[in-house]
Amino acid sequence: MTSARTVLLLCGGRSGEHEVSLASAASVLEAAPERIVLEPRVIARDGRLLSPAASRAALRDGRSDGDAYAADADPDVLTGLARADLRRFDAVFPLLHGPNGEDGTVQGLLRVAGVPFVGSDVLGSAAAMDKIVMKRLFASAGLPQVPWRGADRNAYAADPEGVRDRARDLPWPRFVKPANLGSSVGIGRARDEAEQDAALAEAFRHDRRVVIEAAAEGAREVEVAVLDGRPPHASPPGEIRVPDGAYYDYAHKYTEGASELLVPAQLPDRLADELRALALDAFRLVDAAGLARVDFFVDPAGRALVNEINTLPGFTRTSMYPRLLQAAGVPYPELIERLVEAALARRAEADAVR
Ligand SMILES: Nc1ncnc2c1ncn2[C@@H]1O[C@H](COP(=O)(O)OP(=O)(O)O)[C@@H](O)[C@H]1O
Ligand SMILES: [Mg+2]
Repeated sequence: MTSARTVLLLCGGRSGEHEVSLASAASVLEAAPERIVLEPRVIARDGRLLSPAASRAALRDGRSDGDAYAADADPDVLTGLARADLRRFDAVFPLLHGPNGEDGTVQGLLRVAGVPFVGSDVLGSAAAMDKIVMKRLFASAGLPQVPWRGADRNAYAADPEGVRDRARDLPWPRFVKPANLGSSVGIGRARDEAEQDAALAEAFRHDRRVVIEAAAEGAREVEVAVLDGRPPHASPPGEIRVPDGAYYDYAHKYTEGASELLVPAQLPDRLADELRALALDAFRLVDAAGLARVDFFVDPAGRALVNEINTLPGFTRTSMYPRLLQAAGVPYPELIERLVEAALARRAEADAVR
């Protein structure tokens, strides 16, 4: 039995996934075992760090905007964390999704501050967040993926025909996605060049770099949870069902009842084993740590295609990641504790080789 750990639970953030992060953090706060003593701090949409009392209120209310939460806020995360004195904490749980949270930036800050933290380090976070870098790493090891091309905003502005040309051999329909975002924000589906131009314009509003890829037509969406350890463990796959004709866009992700999570997915054993092995490959290829959810398409012929890896997946009690681990025999409160202990163990290991 380990002694009590004091953990700073960092949540909210400036990305489009602010509310999702608040919901994840509220779940963690409610379910953490007694040994994990949490101090939540919410990063408001405008970047301020709310006071401990306002942070608890924001988690209770599921929102953080408005004067009610502004009292005693620090002007930014850097100032706030310096004032909070990170040395008081055994670890930080940066439960932030998307840019400025899941992408290595906050991880770099915590690394410089010298405090252990849950989840992937700078490299793993950044590599997994950037869909172009991620796809290249997967390709380097021959992981199955849909065919894709990267495109750059300036190159497209200078020579749109050149960008269309380089994507010419991709079949229709296609998906166009900002390289560094999440929650399906800025993503479009295109059936022809005209729709692709519109989708590119939209994606380039969100990011300098975008991905154009072939749609996995008629595919099922299946996800595997990876929990770090010696060796890392992959859960059985779960499936996401969205109504016919739709894809897993923002509304289907976060509207209660708009999509269905099936845990475990009904798949042949051999395919489930293959998906678990691919999930572990993906985890190692981006140098992830702690936790990750690896998302797949299973095409109508039963072939697995890796879609993406998320290093800070949705983490409410009913989100796919915790549900998959529950199915793998790790209940939610224990999962929280294991992630914190893994962060401390990784830090001890890093100290030992310095
Ligand atoms: N190539 C594809 N084929 C079919 N559906 C796709 C494809 N790419 C994305 N989608 C749909 O869009 C959703 C969001 O895309 P994804 O790449 O997972 O971005 P995000 O990082 O925003 O979750 C997927 O869950 C899926 O429903
Ligand atoms: Mg996704």
